[in-house]
Amino acid sequence: MHWIAPTPDPDADRITRFPTVPKHIAIIMDGNGRWAKQRGQQRIAGHWEGANRVDDITTECAKLGVSYLTLYAFSTENWNRPAAEISMLMQILIHYLKTMEKKLVQNRIRLIAQGSVERLPLNARKQLDRTQEKTADYAPRMYLNLSLSYGSRQELLDATKQIARKYADGELSLDSLGENDLKNYFYQPHVPDPELLIRSGGESRLSNFLLWQAAYAEFFVTETLWPDFREASLHEAINYYTGRERRFGKTSEQVRPSENSFAEESNS
Ligand code: IPE
Ligand code: IPE
Ligand code: MG
Repeated sequence: MHWIAPTPDPDADRITRFPTVPKHIAIIMDGNGRWAKQRGQQRIAGHWEGANRVDDITTECAKLGVSYLTLYAFSTENWNRPAAEISMLMQILIHYLKTMEKKLVQNRIRLIAQGSVERLPLNARKQLDRTQEKTADYAPRMYLNLSLSYGSRQELLDATKQIARKYADGELSLDSLGENDLKNYFYQPHVPDPELLIRSGGESRLSNFLLWQAAYAEFFVTETLWPDFREASLHEAINYYTGRERRFGKTSEQVRPSENSFAEESNS
């Protein structure tokens, strides 16, 4: 597929409400099962309600001028869940892709996916291909990157194998391989690292998500369960992000030179 850089619309809402909006937001959508249990319902009811939030949050991110939204929908470890739950999750995925298609096109959102998607059942893979094709015709405003059968360790292993193969074929010199080159072997090499990583459901762990890419992401964990994660929760996460000082290993004075010079002046 030919890669086109996303061009978010300038949005008045965004400018007045948030001084900075992350270019790439990644979300671990957790808590569907607990949400259902709290209501005395089957876990699957939580997954259905969670799918509605995928719709809302995707649309809101595009509206706010986010360029990339990566959602953790199904992990490599989730294959260990009961077969009936996995099967229902696949049905929900197919249903979601079918019903979201029109809206994705209307909003100029392009669907991409990352993970060992070849492990998905054939009907899910077919629908995934269809929706990707249908949303590939325009210059996108935002990329929706669905993590399906995704595991970061598997992604790193796959990348390592590709590099080893290239090296063995004499197509690669190891000395020339830098940190940024490693990324070229990931599932979605064009997608930049996320600046903001959100996890709903209260757990402070990565669960094998974007281990390499999240090296400098700001981590926002909320107790809110995914089916309750509405636009206001997203705004809260962006506000949290806005308030962070991103130092990337430097000192505060280095990243805020204006305040630093003020401190120096008052010292003299
Ligand atoms: C997240 O919700 C969805 C998937 C992992 C597919 P869970 O199903 O993990 O919900 P909890 O954590 O059991 O509440
Ligand atoms: C992480 O949630 C995976 C997804 C949200 C798709 P899990 O519910 O699988 O994570 P753990 O098992 O609690 O770490
Ligand atoms: Mg969970």
